[in-house]
Amino acid sequence: MPKPAKHVFVCSQNRPPGHPRGSCVARGGSDLLQAFWMELQKRNLFDQVAVTYSGCIGPCDIGPNVLVYPEGILYVGVVKADVEEIFDRHLIGGEPVSRLVAPPEVWG
Ligand code: FES
Repeated sequence: MPKPAKHVFVCSQNRPPGHPRGSCVARGGSDLLQAFWMELQKRNLFDQVAVTYSGCIGPCDIGPNVLVYPEGILYVGVVKADVEEIFDRHLIGGEPVSRLVAPPEVWG
């Protein structure tokens, strides 16, 4: 298989209701993953972009979170309506969607 230029990891971590950390799935992460896969299929970019579910990426309280490599760009609070823009601007266009990039405090 061809090596993808971009690899998108969509947090699909779930936790029991009432868990203090919550989870990206509780915030819509499963629907978001489906939206990424649908968009990938619609655009037939399987040879350029890989979309994979992942476990917890870190900042659960501001999810759903999406990590894009090779840049290591972390998007937070991503919703289905953001998916087309992430494809257009970042995965194809090469420029991160700055309004969704995790604030620096996340890494503090
Ligand atoms: S559950 Fe998604 S970042 Fe922790």
